[in-house]
Amino acid sequence: MSVSPVIITTWRFGLAASVRGLELLKSGSSALDAIEAAANVTELDPEVNSVGLGGLPNADGIVELDAAIMDGLTHAAGSVAGVTDIATPISIARKVMDLTPHTMLVGQNARAFALRNGFHTEELLTEKSRKAWQEWQKERSASDVSHFTSGPPILTPDNHDTIGLCALDTHGNLAAGCTTSGMAWKVPGRVGDSPIIGSGLYVDNAVGAAAGTGHGDEMMKAVVSYRVVQNMERGMTPEEACIETLRYMMAKRNPELHGNYGAALIAVRKDGLVGAAATKSGFAGPDRLWQWAVGKDDCTLHEGVYVTPTEIIPSLLT
Ligand code: GLY
Repeated sequence: MSVSPVIITTWRFGLAASVRGLELLKSGSSALDAIEAAANVTELDPEVNSVGLGGLPNADGIVELDAAIMDGLTHAAGSVAGVTDIATPISIARKVMDLTPHTMLVGQNARAFALRNGFHTEELLTEKSRKAWQEWQKERSASDVSHFTSGPPILTPDNHDTIGLCALDTHGNLAAGCTTSGMAWKVPGRVGDSPIIGSGLYVDNAVGAAAGTGHGDEMMKAVVSYRVVQNMERGMTPEEACIETLRYMMAKRNPELHGNYGAALIAVRKDGLVGAAATKSGFAGPDRLWQWAVGKDDCTLHEGVYVTPTEIIPSLLT
């Protein structure tokens, strides 16, 4: 029996990716292929400043990309971190999954692996992202020149977006993906949540899939995507599962000490039910409305639901 396909993605810019993914799913593609192709749309869009080509660089002005992909049917996964000069890291992650006995490759060796497998290099800085980096450099105080080793990086709500994706195909199989240039102006070598299986993404065909976007240094400590899928396994809806996970994440850390928690999660259950939630502290504001794209019959943008630190579950504070 054929299942109605679904693809969900983070952010308004995920809409174009969802359109591509849904088109493929409707024509019978696997969830895994749809996730990769959909993610490539965003990776290759120079206007998206947090993913692939045009992504904002690290403190040295180098674009370092992280990505991962996971197959719900086989539980296989591939991941890369700190990749330079190649715009489509999710496709390198797919090759890691398909061609090696390993799960994660990093840095120069991930790049070399990609080149051996047919990828080509290109300049990932655009005129716009280079200019943004130059502006940031000008604003940087003298004390920052140590690459933040004496303090936290400058965190603003708009410097750590990511595209997270989850899909259900017509065969009833699930897959998830995540791809990012990470936090803008990061300490060179910093890796966020996106390529970490269980944090940036997680999928289990028996339950559902989840993926995230936001402040990866906080999100990875709560292993958020794994928790969302576990919550669904315990009977929560996708939306409830995302809300509980964000509450857990916020309860474990002091927002006053650790800044905002710009974080959002999306999830799809194996029966196609979808849900999402975001933290209000990091993603609120007229210019930073949390939106996610849902591709079912057609592709539409959705807003909210927000979770605030005051809504944390008291039992999680003990
Ligand atoms: N979620 C993207 C990052 O923090 O790297």
